[in-house]
Amino acid sequence: MPAIIADAPGKIILFGEHAVVYRRPAIAVPVTETRAKVTIQANIKAPPGLVEIEAPDIQLACELDQLNRDHPIGLAIRSVFRELQISRPPAMKLHITSTIPIAAGMGSGAAVSVAISRALLAFLGSPLPDEKISSLAYEVDRLYHGDPSGIDNTVITFGRPVYYIKDQSPQLLTIAKPMTLVIADTGQQKRTSEAVAGVRERWEKDTERYERLFDQIGVIANQARKIIEKGSPVQLGPLMDENQELLKEMGVSSAELDRLVASAQQAGALGAKLSGAGLGGNCIALATPETAQAIASQLMSAGAVRTIITRVGPK
Ligand code: PMV
Repeated sequence: MPAIIADAPGKIILFGEHAVVYRRPAIAVPVTETRAKVTIQANIKAPPGLVEIEAPDIQLACELDQLNRDHPIGLAIRSVFRELQISRPPAMKLHITSTIPIAAGMGSGAAVSVAISRALLAFLGSPLPDEKISSLAYEVDRLYHGDPSGIDNTVITFGRPVYYIKDQSPQLLTIAKPMTLVIADTGQQKRTSEAVAGVRERWEKDTERYERLFDQIGVIANQARKIIEKGSPVQLGPLMDENQELLKEMGVSSAELDRLVASAQQAGALGAKLSGAGLGGNCIALATPETAQAIASQLMSAGAVRTIITRVGPK
């Protein structure tokens, strides 16, 4: 039997992180330059039930039964077996690799879950619709992040830009004109659950103020959607700057993120903001194909540990 291969892209949130947890709209796009990839090979010599896992990027090589019950890779694999009501799967070996930076707000965990589900479902001959794959990845995320909005698993599963409101069907966005973005990693691992819990605490203390901030972010996301669909991406720049100011007010930026955002702006970015949970992780800067490289170099000089230039475009 030939090997089965499946993959899933990374992602960034363009507008609306945190507010999306409170049911305001957000926009996320896949980052196809980075991917998680899962290869499954049948092991006909081994007894059924033996599932071997190799994930060299995180120095993991073991059997499924040896993994902690709450290990995200184990959870992703078991959730597929549970969904298909399989108790003794055919023996197999999963090889997992990813070029998506870990804990940087680019959805590496969700992408690995999605790639595992897709590969396993194909291997077992039981493909499921994207909605189901997305909800399997959501369940894994939930155990790690408490109460995630679901935007990560959605954009990563569909591999298309999405306009997303929690608990509503995602709307796939049509990008009228391509956008060039520079993603810059602060090198500080972002801590999603901590950032989300911090916002929750402050929201509980000052609900009115935070609801106002979320509303303002929601308005920005709606304006951005129109601009994206109309095809004048340059106009997104000021909206990114505004969104960043509101995220700062919410207390989820950091000195490093602020420094990178300022340096992108100085280097000629049309707009810049943190992306994802904040308190570290990535910032994103809107560039043009002509300015992207110079902005990326400037961000490296300002302390970024890695930059990725991505083009988000009509397919
Ligand atoms: O940094 P990430 O990729 O985990 O993004 C978190 C986005 C939040 O809006 C802060 C949380 C969520 O569940 O949407």
